Amino acid sequence: MKKTWWKESIVYEIYPRSFNDSDGDGIGDLKGIIEKLDYLKELGVNVLWLAPVYASPNDDNGYDISDYRAIMPEFGTMADFDRLLEEAHGRSLKIMMDLVVNHTSDEHAWFQESRSSRESEKRDYYIWRDPVDGHAPTNWGSAFGGSAWEWDEKTGQYYLHCFSKKQPDLNWDNPEVRREVYDMMRFWLDKGIDGFRMDVINMISKPPVFADGPAGAGQYCDAGYMVTNGPRLHEYLQEMNREVLSRYDIMTVGECGGTDPAAARLIAGTDRGELNMIFQFEHVNLDGGIADKWAHKPMDLPLLKANLCKWQQELHGNAWNSIYFNNHDQPRAVSRLGDNSPESAKAIATVLYLMEGTPYLYQGEELGMTNYPFRGIEDYHDIESVGAFRQLTGSGSREPEELLDAIAYKSRDNARTPMQWNGGAGAGFTEGTPWMPVNPNYTSVNAAAEEADPDSVLQYYRKLLRFRTKSPEKDLLVYGDFQLLLADDPAVFAYLRTEGQKAALVVGNLTAEERTIGFSAGSAHGIQEILTKLAGKLPALSSGSKKAFASDMTLEPWEAAVWIAG
Ligand code: GLC
Repeated sequence: MKKTWWKESIVYEIYPRSFNDSDGDGIGDLKGIIEKLDYLKELGVNVLWLAPVYASPNDDNGYDISDYRAIMPEFGTMADFDRLLEEAHGRSLKIMMDLVVNHTSDEHAWFQESRSSRESEKRDYYIWRDPVDGHAPTNWGSAFGGSAWEWDEKTGQYYLHCFSKKQPDLNWDNPEVRREVYDMMRFWLDKGIDGFRMDVINMISKPPVFADGPAGAGQYCDAGYMVTNGPRLHEYLQEMNREVLSRYDIMTVGECGGTDPAAARLIAGTDRGELNMIFQFEHVNLDGGIADKWAHKPMDLPLLKANLCKWQQELHGNAWNSIYFNNHDQPRAVSRLGDNSPESAKAIATVLYLMEGTPYLYQGEELGMTNYPFRGIEDYHDIESVGAFRQLTGSGSREPEELLDAIAYKSRDNARTPMQWNGGAGAGFTEGTPWMPVNPNYTSVNAAAEEADPDSVLQYYRKLLRFRTKSPEKDLLVYGDFQLLLADDPAVFAYLRTEGQKAALVVGNLTAEERTIGFSAGSAHGIQEILTKLAGKLPALSSGSKKAFASDMTLEPWEAAVWIAG
């Protein structure tokens, strides 16, 4: 397998609004990020993915961009950005930008021009359609509630918006649009940025004919579903690669909902000339999928393991995985797979980040930051949570109390509360009033306290990340084969990574109860041999007691450990 820096990297997502506020306005900013670069370096990550920092009216917190070449004033200036890039590079930290080009803000100059008249030279930059029988062209619904079509009184047509009505979809079939996007990408790459995370990139190619789709719980069919993996997607990604990506030494990851391993191999296959890797969603949808995001189903561990194992094995050797459970759109894994305890945070991280693929961490997970105790709908900022509540209670399909429980569990706002730097007012995030309340557990869950505690989640993350990137086992842990063990065990996640004579056995008890396991029964020949070699060995890394390996052993609640053979 070809070795490259981005396979050996560890990415950390920064949600700038909630990361660190340097000027007391309650909103994180670029100078605030610069202040924390040493902390990030010390953590052991080497790529920082910045959620959008561009000019935006913030209908969807920056995912609605009004100027791709300007910095959001609340976050700072272009000079601040240039300094951030320089300071990061000075510490060998790379910067990956969010590329949001499925849609722009309705306040972007292109859209302003496009909506000015049917004859506008930019009319065709967006997707305009005539009404059908006096109503919207199709039954498509937007991701944030309501129709995906917005009526424009002035020009007498509808425009398509798969997200909010302030996020009109660009028309990628128009070569001018693609040229503009590539130019803009070069603008950032020529500044020296190191990669792009591409927002909902597999939605850019729309179907040639727009037709009604199957309606879900409400009256609408999910527009995202209708436009995912469209007919010209690969043509566009290959063109983008030829024109832009291939000319720089960068890393790319496409956010690709609705994608299975076969589709992933087309977008991120080694020989495809498209992207380096994708974010797939199958594993994070197992406790209530896209169709039913607001279900509150517990995660079934054997199902989760089988799913992750499928991705590991089906991409091995011909594409590359991203590994993640947290980001700005997901509730906190420690509250979802864990029980909010530091022990559960450590166990989850161990089994997650020693799989094959590039790890993507999200700010605060390294502290064990948890979901927020949300109550009423007025506690939320997120357009998705508020939109879902309005739509589902309005149509009578859900009871408000029960729906609020599900939203509290799944809302994206869980990830967006301010970073907990210390136990002081504003959690050290701001000296002013934070734009979103700080999680009340900041007095114990915070970076300063964890810095001083050798058993903290933060200290464990530092060890784990160094183990993956700096130990003699580095190549094994990055490039080795993956083999799931104890597939049916409802409590324990266990697997082997193997390369030549070397093997790592990774084991984590993902429950709050003691659990006895036995590896020996029925193990295949090669595995038996590895288990024999491991017998009596002390773990190379462990989150609990340092127990010697035995094929039959009892794990403490949330205990995780890694043993190395060869
Ligand atoms: C992606 C982003 C999400 C945003 C949406 C629309 O899923 O991660 O935060 O709301 O795209 O841009």
